[in-house]
Amino acid sequence: MQIYYFTRSGRSQKIAGELAARYGVQAEQIKDGKDWQGIGGYIKACYVAIKGQSLPGVYKIPGEDSPIALVFPIWAGTFPPVVRQFISAVGRERIICIPTSGGSKLKDRGGFSKVIDLVGANIAAPAEL
Ligand SMILES: Cc1cc2nc3c(=O)[nH]c(=O)nc-3n(C[C@H](O)[C@H](O)[C@H](O)COP(=O)(O)O)c2cc1C
Repeated sequence: MQIYYFTRSGRSQKIAGELAARYGVQAEQIKDGKDWQGIGGYIKACYVAIKGQSLPGVYKIPGEDSPIALVFPIWAGTFPPVVRQFISAVGRERIICIPTSGGSKLKDRGGFSKVIDLVGANIAAPAEL
């Protein structure tokens, strides 16, 4: 199992860390080099997500050999731009998609090997992938 995450406020990172510890691997961060902090960052993040934008990411290229668990926050009902790019680079069929959110489930869920929604204030790493 390979574990990847993108995070703005740490919730997805925590889940990825728990999964990585369980599988004895490193949780690999996906970075986009942007500053999404503060209210300005939040509004910008909603805007680019709604527009369906993609952004190039910096991350370790995943190996071909094992499935990929991808943990990330839902932004405006959909993928953050760098997550959208990662998914299209890697291919949905190799990805176990683990969106974290305050209240919504992922809408665009077709093609992934699995989708495990982690919804609400209290989320925990899924017992099984
Ligand atoms: C720009 C932005 C948009 C969001 N949009 C949604 C949303 O549409 N539905 C929802 O339930 N939560 C939404 N959230 C809440 C996050 O998905 C949730 O807090 C997530 O677990 C944060 O993960 P992180 O700490 O790894 O960044 C949004 C958060 C941000 C920053």
